[in-house]
Amino acid sequence: MQSFFNVKLPPVRDDIFKERKEMEPIKRILTPTLERPNYYLIIGPHGCGKSTLINFVAGTFKKGIIHVEGSDDIEKFGENFAKAINYPELDVNLVKWLVNQLSGGPYTHKLLWQKVLSRFEEFASKAVKKYSIHPVLIIDDIAKIATNYPKVVERLQNVAKTAADHRLFTVVFVASDANLIDNFMKNSSYSRCRTLYIGDFNENEALAYLINNRNINAQIAKRIFDLCGGRISHIVGVASEVDQLIALRKSLRKSVDYKDNEFCEEVIKIVDEQVNGIKQDYRQVWDTYVPENSNRKILQFLCNNLDAEFTRRDIIRLFDERTGEYIFSTLLKNNIITYKGGIIEFGAPVIKTMLSELHEKEQEIDV
Ligand SMILES: Nc1ncnc2c1ncn2[C@@H]1O[C@H](COP(=O)(O)OP(=O)(O)O)[C@@H](O)[C@H]1O
Ligand SMILES: [Mg+2]
Repeated sequence: MQSFFNVKLPPVRDDIFKERKEMEPIKRILTPTLERPNYYLIIGPHGCGKSTLINFVAGTFKKGIIHVEGSDDIEKFGENFAKAINYPELDVNLVKWLVNQLSGGPYTHKLLWQKVLSRFEEFASKAVKKYSIHPVLIIDDIAKIATNYPKVVERLQNVAKTAADHRLFTVVFVASDANLIDNFMKNSSYSRCRTLYIGDFNENEALAYLINNRNINAQIAKRIFDLCGGRISHIVGVASEVDQLIALRKSLRKSVDYKDNEFCEEVIKIVDEQVNGIKQDYRQVWDTYVPENSNRKILQFLCNNLDAEFTRRDIIRLFDERTGEYIFSTLLKNNIITYKGGIIEFGAPVIKTMLSELHEKEQEIDV
């Protein structure tokens, strides 16, 4: 029973992990000895470092935190949950077997995640009494569950509220797709949810990461930040390319010293190429998903508002209602834009550059 609550998480490498200011509030949310009358939602754009941050902080506790990865396959979600609490393998197989045997398909019977949840609830109530642990259940990437099973998210939200009412355990949802927030916020228990927004690294954090954790010199670090902004997933991608360049140069016995001009030029070339690659990926997303006949209007709007705040309504009213809704959700789904509270932001800093370059090109063609 005690091992049930041992913290098992994907490891985060200390040497590469960059501490950030959100660690404190996350620590308060995750502390597995505190009773709380609420449940939590941690939200922020795709690739801003939510999972890594949460796993790192959770890893500083020995007991009482359960981390479950969401999935758009409900069976897989059940399996993730089962693994997270050491739900016996036999039971997992037995449940699968039963579900198949008893015909009618999985939906008429208790699904694996529900079975595992019941077991979790049972253990949680014992843990509170016996070990003074107040377990924390993290459900990461709930947008994945919400895509195919909005009702399951609703159920989980109700479980979270009831658990908070009885001070049994704390549920922490993690999400990057704000589409889901609409339904999540409409749930009557939402007033019991505390929301924490996590965004991109600020300039100091990004530079400190590149300079101290990745040994990149200050000038090139600044260039990377200017191009990528503080989106850590992009920064990590660029830094890894630089590592590869260094490995290659070492194997060719060439200099890897930032005082050497030739080396610096090579690094800058690699950085620029990598950022261009990121931009092209977004460009492809834009070309693939934004319908051609709406393309210009929305591009114009976004480029006029690169540094302004705008809302969902502002986008929708550019078109007729249905088209507007469609364009809005297409942009959201594909991470071109993202929600921060009621305000829309660009999905990642390089998207702004990608869009304005595209806009300029189109205007040149017009002339
Ligand atoms: N604090 C950090 N220090 C170093 N690398 C980080 C940090 N946070 C995130 N990363 C890296 O950035 C990438 C995206 O992070 P992730 O946690 O998966 O983002 P999210 O869950 O918000 O989509 C991963 O490759 C991860 O290793
Ligand atoms: Mg994540």
